This record gives sequence, C-alpha cells and structure tokens, in this order.
Amino acid sequence: MRTKTIAAVVAAAFGVASMTAVAAEKSVEVVHWWTSGGEAAALNVLKQDMLKRGYGWKDSPVAGGGGDQARTVLRARVAAGNPPDAMQMLGFIITDYAEEGLLGDLTPVATKEGWDKVVPAPLQKFDKYKGHWVAAPVNIHRTNWIWANKKIFDELKITPPKTFDELLAAAAKIRKAGYIPLAHGGQAWQDATIFDSAVLSAGGPAFYRKALIELDPAALSGPTMAKAFEQMQKLRGLVDDNFPGRDWNLATAMVINGKAAMQIMGDWAKGEFLKAGKKPNVDFLCFQYPGTEGSFTFNSDAFAMFKVGKEQEAGQLALASAIMDKTFQEQFNLVKGSIPARMDVSGERFEACGKKSMADLKIALKNDSMLGSFAHGHAVPESIKGAMIDVVTNFFNSGGSPADAAKKLAAAVEASK
Ligand code: GAL
Repeated sequence: MRTKTIAAVVAAAFGVASMTAVAAEKSVEVVHWWTSGGEAAALNVLKQDMLKRGYGWKDSPVAGGGGDQARTVLRARVAAGNPPDAMQMLGFIITDYAEEGLLGDLTPVATKEGWDKVVPAPLQKFDKYKGHWVAAPVNIHRTNWIWANKKIFDELKITPPKTFDELLAAAAKIRKAGYIPLAHGGQAWQDATIFDSAVLSAGGPAFYRKALIELDPAALSGPTMAKAFEQMQKLRGLVDDNFPGRDWNLATAMVINGKAAMQIMGDWAKGEFLKAGKKPNVDFLCFQYPGTEGSFTFNSDAFAMFKVGKEQEAGQLALASAIMDKTFQEQFNLVKGSIPARMDVSGERFEACGKKSMADLKIALKNDSMLGSFAHGHAVPESIKGAMIDVVTNFFNSGGSPADAAKKLAAAVEASK
C-alpha cells in the first residue's frame, strides 16, 4: 500500500509542483494599497480577468489609504533591487520612476490597442514618459465630493449646500440634532484631500491652478489661500473627538450607519456605500463641495511595470492589456466608485453619481478645468507635495492663523524646490 501511495504522492506533488511552477512562472506580483471592502472588491475584478488570461496574481497589499505606506515599501524594495512586477501609482510618482529608467515600455500594447485615442490628455501627461507609455490607467477618481446620509438630511430638511456658509449652517443643525456633522479620518492625506476642495472653493479653478499646480508664491501666500485655511479651520470644528488616525473607510461607515451626516472624500468612498448595498438618492447623497460645482479635481490610479526581467514581461503586458480592456474598465469602475479612464466606455450602467462625474468630466475637459488632485499626486511632484501636506495637516490639527498658514505654505514650497 505505502509504495503506491508515495509514487502517487510524488506524481501528484510533481503535478502540483509543475502546475504551481507554471502558475508561479505565469503570475504577476502587484503592490497596491486597496484593502478596504470596496477597494478589494474592485481589485478582485482584475484578479479574475488575469486568471482568465492564464496568469496568477501574487498579491502584495500594503494597508494605508492614500498609499503613503505602499510608496515607502516600494522605495525600499527598489533600493534593495527587488521591485515588484507591477505597482499602483499616482501622477508624478510615475514620472519619478520613469526618469530613473526603471519602468517597462508598454507602447507595443498601447499602440496595438489604440490607447492614445481613448485616454484623455490630462492622464496621458502622467502615463507617458518622453512619448512612451509607462503606465496603464484603470480609472479617474474625483476628490471634490461630499457624501451625505440621506435619512439625516431628510429628517432635518437639509438640501445639499451650495455655499460654504450654507454648509456651516447645515452642520449646526446636524450637531443640534445629535449627529456628528463631518466624519473624518485624522491622517495627513485625508486632511490634504479636504484641502483640494477648500482651495478650489476659496479661489476657483484658475486660482487652484495658479497656487497648487504652478506654485505661484503670491497665490500660495496671499489672502485667497488664507480663506482656504479659514475653511479648513471651520471644518476642523465639525469633526468628532475620535477622528485622529481614523482610516477613511471607517469614517465612511459612520455616514453609512447614520452616526455622522457627511464626509468630504474622493469617490472611492462611494465604493464603500455600494459595497454595503446602499443606493444614491435613496440611502446617500453625493454632491460637489460647495463652491466647486463644475470643477473636477482628479486622480487616476495607474499600474506601472518594473523592468524585472524578460520572463515576466508577457505577464506584465497581459496585465496592462487587461487593465485597458473596455469591458474591464466598466466592470471595475462600477465597483470602485471611480469612472473609466477610457473615454469610450458608456455610462449607461453607472448610477447617478457616476453619471454626474462622467458628464462633468466631459465639460471639464472641454473648458480645461480638469485639475490634478494636489493631495493625490497629480498637481506637484512628490517631494514638494510632502512639504505642503505637512503645513496643511499641522494647521488642521494644531490651528493657528490662516494668514500665517498661507505664508508657511509658500515657505515650504520655496524650501522644497
Ligand atoms: C487614493 C487612490 C484611490 C483610493 C484612495 C484610498 O490615493 O487613488 O484609488 O483607493 O487612495 O485608499
């Protein structure tokens, strides 16, 4: 009995081993920070698509919304000469690694599949380096959103505020009724995500561009920027005492569960509502941060492939092709909360907030008001972004004079240039 078993076991083991070897050989390792319920559900769409293409998915998640921890892990792995096959990247980070000559050229797939015709120019600015495609964009997120609990709004007869003062008036009513006006997670990137909208609201799209993209010293240090910090200061007064360090999706859960009325966050928050079976205009409302209607602060998640050797290239190109597949772009974004990076995907199956984002994107592209998100790496290079976010989060947590904060912001930019 024993002899046969060993042979069978060996054969089976060999079988499994060879399959694992094949799978191992035919798998792609991906570093990302998509660990919340909605994020993981969306990523699963991509994993399944890769399996259908005959590739295993070696998952290397690094928890931490916004991706700071994942970017730190990546930098260490690159320094150790052990980069992953693929990495989730945002904006200027792609340019940084392309400049170091570390990213593979996706142009052969891009040309064959016609990416140039369907990906809008503000994304191509980051996904291409010196005319070569170095990253495949999965989506277009928007950061100037507010997510609200409809039951609380209906109970208190509140409609989406059109001005910042209306927002403060609504918040006072909400607090009086015993709810938390603003669910927020006290992490620097979340404070910075609010700042995207506060700057846009205080000065409009032209000012946002001048200050946070062109880094004009007068715009950074002046009275309009002080107004943006005033908004941050007032918003600080709307959060609960337990906000420090809270993860973004736990803040979203507070709005889903009716503990809090609103959250200012990118539309990855919508992915959590949808994952919880909630419907827009039934369970929750989505509207632009007051004073930013019509403008679109965007960030696009893209995957870049590192030069790790010929044997992985087929898998990396298969991943790039899977990401840019039209059907995938629809299915992934229906779950993720963002909209497709491909402009030729119909919005028919998207819910009201998704449809609004797609319609606003077209307008923003036409009148050139599609603005790279400062908080999510599409406005200024990483080195400068970090110094600016330090000023923003210190002010949000420790207060001070808004006019001084604006001056500190300009000084931080000067010092980090
Ligand atoms: C952003 C990323 C989004 C979302 C968010 C929270 O930087 O672009 O896809 O996942 O972080 O983790």
